[in-house]
Amino acid sequence: MDDLRKKYLSLISGALDETTLEELRVQAVGKKGEISSRMRSLGKMTPEERQKAGPALNALKDEVNSALAAKKMALSDAALEERLKGEWLDVTLPSRGARQGSIHPISQVWDEVTEIFADMGFSVAEGPQIESDWYNFDALNIPGHHPARAEMDTFYTHREHDDDRPPHVLRTHTSPVQIRSMEKIGAPLRIICPGRVYRADYDQTHTPMFHQVEGLAVDTDVSMANLKWCLEEFVKAFFEVDNVELRFRASHFPFTEPSAEVDIRCSWSGGQLKVGEGDDWMEVLGSGMVHPKVLQAGGIDPKVFQGFAFGLGIDRIAMLKYGVPDLRAFFDSDLRWLRHYGFNALDKPGLVSGLSQ
Ligand code: DAH
Repeated sequence: MDDLRKKYLSLISGALDETTLEELRVQAVGKKGEISSRMRSLGKMTPEERQKAGPALNALKDEVNSALAAKKMALSDAALEERLKGEWLDVTLPSRGARQGSIHPISQVWDEVTEIFADMGFSVAEGPQIESDWYNFDALNIPGHHPARAEMDTFYTHREHDDDRPPHVLRTHTSPVQIRSMEKIGAPLRIICPGRVYRADYDQTHTPMFHQVEGLAVDTDVSMANLKWCLEEFVKAFFEVDNVELRFRASHFPFTEPSAEVDIRCSWSGGQLKVGEGDDWMEVLGSGMVHPKVLQAGGIDPKVFQGFAFGLGIDRIAMLKYGVPDLRAFFDSDLRWLRHYGFNALDKPGLVSGLSQ
């Protein structure tokens, strides 16, 4: 029995793989194995012999079984170790070079505009891009039959009243945020709302999605003079010059009375767009004194309060400031264009440090 023990323990410890180990198991403790057949021969022994040999054979069987299990574990650990060595990965490889991305000119201008109006005491308000036709039109004094609804080339998400849902549109301007802000804040108030707006239109200066900043100031002593001063201050700060020429044109919007549109002097010669020179004018905003009906729709008493409002095209002033002659380039996602016109992600525009460095 001692020989059997020595033989199998040494064979097991020398086994190089799991197949050899399995063969050894069968040979020793399998049904017809050497140790098993010894156990079967116990029946032929005398009771005295059996009493000695029985426990010894059982102990031997246990010992061989645990040696097999331990060796099996050791072999699989070694195999895993081997695999890990082969699959080794150097995570310290250098990352991709710096400045892979940049800030889009529209985001940059958005931040610049916010910075300038924040300095004049305006806070930033928000509203949904899918808007009910009440906020987008009716509350702004544009009733159902009004031609302005057709002029705006509206995208309807849901037009009819047939299933109790009120009609909804992709907002055609940021003006509905005027109403939402009056409802939420009341008077006095001073807000701007930069955001996306949508109209079915497409050419060199129009895209189906574009950006506006709405402005609204309501107080007990607000006049057209305040509006003009604010806009002139804004334009000087934004273009970082003292002599940008503005043209205030009498106009009409249902939500303001009186109303004015503002154009900026520019030139388009040779595919180059330049601000402050030339004989062309680019319309950049609509403005006016808030119509009493609009104040009323926002829950503000027009006998006590007045307000001025404006709606400014972010993309338009971005084109002018950064010399981009075609609006559509902003949304083409051309990497070469983005690398050329993009801004460093770490340079936040500030009035002190410079807006557009
Ligand atoms: N909502 C107008 C548009 O998209 C722009 C506008 C004009 C906004 C006059 C105003 C305003 O707040 O007073 O064409």
